[in-house]
Amino acid sequence: MTTTETINIGRLHFRIRPWHSDSSIAHVAMAPGGGVPDTAEIAECLSRIRDLGYRSALTSAMDTAEGSAYRSLGFTERDRLRVMRHDLTDLDQLKGGDRASDYTCKRARKSDKPECLDIDSRAFEPFWRLDAGGLADAEAATPSRRFRVILDQKRVIGYAVTGRGGQQGFIQRLATDPDLQRRGVASLLVVDALRWCGRRHAREVFVNTQVSNVAATRLYEKLGFVTTPNDLVVLFWSGD
Ligand SMILES: CC(C)(COP(=O)(O)OP(=O)(O)OC[C@H]1O[C@@H](n2cnc3c(N)ncnc32)[C@H](O)[C@@H]1OP(=O)(O)O)[C@@H](O)C(=O)NCCC(=O)NCCS
Repeated sequence: MTTTETINIGRLHFRIRPWHSDSSIAHVAMAPGGGVPDTAEIAECLSRIRDLGYRSALTSAMDTAEGSAYRSLGFTERDRLRVMRHDLTDLDQLKGGDRASDYTCKRARKSDKPECLDIDSRAFEPFWRLDAGGLADAEAATPSRRFRVILDQKRVIGYAVTGRGGQQGFIQRLATDPDLQRRGVASLLVVDALRWCGRRHAREVFVNTQVSNVAATRLYEKLGFVTTPNDLVVLFWSGD
């Protein structure tokens, strides 16, 4: 179970791959454009997931209404995400952190990625850590992307992956070294991401963050993001 598999059921294509932090869990994502699966289609998918050797399954983030067919089959809420939006106005007023001048913000090189993954593994709780494949997925999620690191001397202390598709931007991943938080590192990265989206004629930028993530919510609010009414849910099926 190391590769992505596609399970085709009627018009639907379920993409299945091992979850980053536990390869016994199937991460289930819908290929774009196929529609929303009904209960019978999800049940068929689960049966095939078992045949592939997985013991349990985790969905991608979806809106709460879409989750009802999954819930009727025993999926429960693993996490709830707040969707926050920035309208890209007043970018000139944004401050990128009081200590912004202490650090260098630059394009990530391939050789920076192990350090980014190390920060990721220390910044996020184990279940949500990314591996190299997950980071590559975050980079590939949109037609164009910006991958920035913050350096203190020559050491990577924070990173951000931002994507853009059409007039929408997305903060895909953001983390600061836990030993160096509350010094403006993430603010610098987010302001850089917003300005990049603005220069590329995006109209709005979105970020999803766990409702329990106070640090991230405060950070985004401070920089002008507003919470939308549309929470997303990530659902888990224990295989029982
Ligand atoms: C969220 C995170 C990226 C913030 O990084 P950071 O470099 O410490 O952020 P900054 O220093 O730029 O903080 C800017 C503001 O955000 C808010 N903030 C940051 N961390 C906070 C915390 N732990 N509690 C409350 N507010 C916090 C504050 O308003 C802060 O301004 P202040 O220090 O002047 O009060 C960092 O905590 C992290 O890596 N967390 C784990 C990964 C994560 O949650 N990523 C975001 C997922 S969407």
